[in-house]
Amino acid sequence: MSNGLLKGKRGIITGALDENSIAWKVAEKAFEHGATFVLTNAPVAMRMGKINELAAKTNSVVIPADATSTEDLEKLYTHAQEVLGGKIDFILHSIGMSVNIRKNIPYDESNYDYFQKGIDVSALSLHKMLAVAKKMDAINEWGSVVALTYMAAQRTYPFYTDMADIKAMLESIARSFGYHYGVEKKVRINTVSQSPTKTTAGTGIKGFGDFFDYADAIAPLGNASAEDCANYCITLFSDLTKMVTMQNLFHDGGYSSTGVSQAVLDKMGIE
Ligand SMILES: NC(=O)c1ccc[n+]([C@@H]2O[C@H](COP(=O)([O-])OP(=O)(O)OC[C@H]3O[C@@H](n4cnc5c(N)ncnc54)[C@H](O)[C@@H]3O)[C@@H](O)[C@H]2O)c1
Repeated sequence: MSNGLLKGKRGIITGALDENSIAWKVAEKAFEHGATFVLTNAPVAMRMGKINELAAKTNSVVIPADATSTEDLEKLYTHAQEVLGGKIDFILHSIGMSVNIRKNIPYDESNYDYFQKGIDVSALSLHKMLAVAKKMDAINEWGSVVALTYMAAQRTYPFYTDMADIKAMLESIARSFGYHYGVEKKVRINTVSQSPTKTTAGTGIKGFGDFFDYADAIAPLGNASAEDCANYCITLFSDLTKMVTMQNLFHDGGYSSTGVSQAVLDKMGIE
């Protein structure tokens, strides 16, 4: 269903690797809602993923950029504005990677080079995307930036290891930059804290499958899908939410407000 919520808006969507990626669904929905946008991902992901398929489906151009490189980001904004014919109205930051998680290294034995890499890719990349955009004045007034995060920033999940601290930093950057960009240019910045979702990044976490079922049993509405998350992002890119900024918004079927559910007690055999 499309209500043309993003008609006339220009965007940049990061992080679409394959059809399971949350960013992939956001691109499909943004297209349905009348937006024009460019897709971007790390050069290495171009070889692994299917981003060109998505570009063909959504009439969009792909601009490779490593989100940890300010030089790549400058080129991305320049090229994106040329292709789209003006300043940017919305940006999706959908970038996450932890080498410690990939290598199954427990939190208390974290490798610090990997930790630094995780911070650079998954949190500082948001700061860099915003700082480069602000310096280039690449985002229109009332533009909207959304970054995806996870509730491990607030509560401990042992399997999420260093990404918990990195997501806390990401959410803090959204608040801090949201202040400065808001005051100067009315650009708004929010994080969406999404349910566990079966994507390449998600399923790369050890124990993810069991946890997915647990979260589903706790949340009164069940886990929110990638498609649901995309719909929520569209509302945040639209003018209907223009006074929402500097927020961490839970999109999780009620999981974050539920202590325990009857479904979980039943599974444990507790009456
Ligand atoms: N899957 C989940 O359970 C879940 C839950 C909450 C939040 N999130 C967040 O959603 C976001 C998207 O992840 P996803 O689950 O769709 O997985 P995904 O693996 O499909 O997407 C992650 C993307 O990050 C990109 N990336 C990695 N390094 C990069 C770099 N240096 N420059 C540019 N891009 C780079 C990857 O190429 C990939 O496209 C991440 O921030 C993730 O932490 C995921």
